Amino acid sequence: MKKIIINGANGYVASHFINELLDKNYEVIALARASKKYSAKDRMHDVLKDVNDGRYIKSENLKVYSYSLLDKDFSLSEENLKMIFKGNVNYFHFAASLKYDAKSKDDIFGTNINGLENSIDVFSKYSNSNSRFFFISTAYSCGKFSGIFKEKFYDNEDITKFRNYYEQSKRFAENIIKDNIERNNLNAHILRLSQVVGNNKSGITKTDYGVFDFTKRIYNLANRYPNKSVRVLVEPESTQNLIPIDTVVDYLMRSVEVQQLPQIMNFIAKNSIKNIHIINAICRLLPIKIIPSSYLNRKNMDALERIIHVGMSFSGSYVNTNIEFDTQNLDSIIMSINNEANEHTVYKMLEYFIDSLSGKSRSKVLLPTG
Ligand SMILES: NC(=O)c1ccc[n+]([C@@H]2O[C@H](COP(=O)([O-])OP(=O)(O)OC[C@H]3O[C@@H](n4cnc5c(N)ncnc54)[C@H](OP(=O)(O)O)[C@@H]3O)[C@@H](O)[C@H]2O)c1
Repeated sequence: MKKIIINGANGYVASHFINELLDKNYEVIALARASKKYSAKDRMHDVLKDVNDGRYIKSENLKVYSYSLLDKDFSLSEENLKMIFKGNVNYFHFAASLKYDAKSKDDIFGTNINGLENSIDVFSKYSNSNSRFFFISTAYSCGKFSGIFKEKFYDNEDITKFRNYYEQSKRFAENIIKDNIERNNLNAHILRLSQVVGNNKSGITKTDYGVFDFTKRIYNLANRYPNKSVRVLVEPESTQNLIPIDTVVDYLMRSVEVQQLPQIMNFIAKNSIKNIHIINAICRLLPIKIIPSSYLNRKNMDALERIIHVGMSFSGSYVNTNIEFDTQNLDSIIMSINNEANEHTVYKMLEYFIDSLSGKSRSKVLLPTG
């Protein structure tokens, strides 16, 4: 039985991965933070229950430790760390700040850079030489890139080459991994995810990131001001690269199974979804008419349009993107690509998401943020 160690374990992607690992009888060590009200263990168990829509969780192979990402030895005892890292392990660094606003720069860099460096220190100190370090990055570490974004390292660049500090921090983090591979023989792999959405088969969507964040804002406005027509600054023919959570989990499972792995893999969708399809789906599900426009000027917006525009400060940077990603390395490890999001499955995810906002679908397990 393989041992998998995961930090940021209670996050969206990590918890779905852990759920599948437990289902396949892997031994899982989850490193999570405690919140003010709940222990790391309670948070982990609650999130797994939520992933399973309240059903039974197979947790006999799961051990949860409360850790501190930025502290020496994660604030865990030497004895615990020796036990955690004993044997050949696959260690996944998921923890990250997904904030994007300039005000949060220190938090973004503190978590995504200092957190990664500390994680490498702990891994290097306690793991054996056959153990592997997986860094979860983003396909958007490409920044404002044109051309095909390859599965290779790119140099650090200044902030003008990125849409936000999150993207820049992930590029810097990848180069910290590169440095450690070259100087210290770190046995590391980088997995770059595009925008992770809901489950492609069931439509169950437990994230409010990216297009769902946009949908949540439109949902609130449609409820307050029903049947309005609003223009949004979105290029209708541009695309979103959406990767279903179940596909990401399949790729992560494959990474654990395959022994000889490429150093970097782009976990992205081969077929992107046009913005116009997402907008049409939202309009079918909510009492609102959204008119996407590439030429909307802030000065000519009405009050409602301006509210949407301000709320789109993050998703807004991704509304005229058509980035192409190379997947040669990914293709070399996956069996087949048969679970891509399409207009129909994205509609189902949006429907589930909107139903959960209105309390129609099974309610989420709500936790205070840590
Ligand atoms: N979701 C996407 O579409 C997407 C796309 C590309 C790449 N990714 C990457 O995938 C990974 C997981 O993303 P996700 O969507 O699952 O994010 P998420 O749900 O927000 O999870 C982030 C995790 O990081 C932890 N974390 C944040 N700051 C921390 C700190 N200072 N110390 C310790 N833990 C901290 C969070 O713990 P708390 O709950 O305690 O805050 C949480 O467990 C990230 O590395 C992200 O960059 C995600």
